[in-house]
Amino acid sequence: MFQNTKSLPADPILGLLAAYRVDSNSHKIDLGVGVYKDENGNTPVMRAVKAAEQKLLETQDSKSYVGPAGQEAFNHLTAGLVLGDSLRESLGARRVTFQTPGGCGGLRLGAEFIQKVKPGANILVSDPTWANHIPLLGEAGLQIEKYPYYDYQQHAIRFDDMMQALQKAGPGDLVLLHGCCHNPCGADLDQDQWRSVTDLAEKNGFTPFIDLAYQGLGDGIDADSFGVRLMAERLPELIVVNSCSKNFGLYRERTGALTVITDNADATRAAASQIAATARGIYSMPPDHGAAVVTTILQDSALKQDWDLELKEVRERINALRSELVNALTAEGVDRDFSFIEREKGMFSFLGLSVEQVRSLIDDYSIYLVDSSRINIAGINHSNLAYLTRGIAEVLTR
Ligand code: LMR
Repeated sequence: MFQNTKSLPADPILGLLAAYRVDSNSHKIDLGVGVYKDENGNTPVMRAVKAAEQKLLETQDSKSYVGPAGQEAFNHLTAGLVLGDSLRESLGARRVTFQTPGGCGGLRLGAEFIQKVKPGANILVSDPTWANHIPLLGEAGLQIEKYPYYDYQQHAIRFDDMMQALQKAGPGDLVLLHGCCHNPCGADLDQDQWRSVTDLAEKNGFTPFIDLAYQGLGDGIDADSFGVRLMAERLPELIVVNSCSKNFGLYRERTGALTVITDNADATRAAASQIAATARGIYSMPPDHGAAVVTTILQDSALKQDWDLELKEVRERINALRSELVNALTAEGVDRDFSFIEREKGMFSFLGLSVEQVRSLIDDYSIYLVDSSRINIAGINHSNLAYLTRGIAEVLTR
């Protein structure tokens, strides 16, 4: 059976973590996988999460199955987080939300659902996009095409080129958009650009598929879902996947959701039945713990307030680090304009280095980053900033 099985290279993002862990250099820095780290380099359990877990330990009275859609309370509350309560209410039975095993589970479930109703549908994804979008969507059977997105020289969105490429998408096609904090480039659509893409979707009839993995890490919970809410308000159909990995720090608990909006209650009911059958055929039902924690937090005003506050601290720390990195590179005498890093949002930005320069940072300095030169800003702290900027300055002058 397995004699001819071929080995695959390590995952371009997760492989870095394994290499970092076995590196004995005491100066090593992990700027690879997108996990929030505090000033001490730790990824702590959020205060509200700890409190909610304590509460669950005392009050949870069953571990019985939750069903393919997960917990209704989680789905209701998480839809409120993504859409805002009033839009959730006005969409009524046009919306359905499924608890999923993380954002990845939501993306795959959404793709498998589309594959059932429109086999081989085209999905246009930004160039670049998160590397794992390709297998998550493509291995379900969707046909992936790219639209231009990031200008690596100007460090800006190629918006005109993007709009021109999206002209070809019509009814039955999907367009994948990053709701906020674009992964990997950190360059987000502004409000006018969201309006233009929404106008185009309305005119040409394609269905946006939004990945909202970083809600709350850019400008705040509401601001970060501006595009999602605009599209949900104006378009007949929308797919949104959100993740609780980053904003609740629940990475390993695999907590996320898939929301599907159609233009009438009957179509949404039919979609829900298909999604339920699809989930049942892949993993039967999602894990409960992370979703139970989120539900406990969102149902308790004190816990919700504390979660909001800690998320604000996370967001502000990342934004401050962006400025500090730019200032430190300038102070190091680097002859290149890195100010774009301050304008970008969320955990990631490209440094704009070649693959050889990235390899040198990894091999010679033990500074781990993705080949594309994407860095996780949250991996920077005041103890490693000087070593990092010196490393970048040195590889740039080689
Ligand atoms: C990342 O892009 O680093 C994160 O989304 C984590 C992952 O699974 O790749």
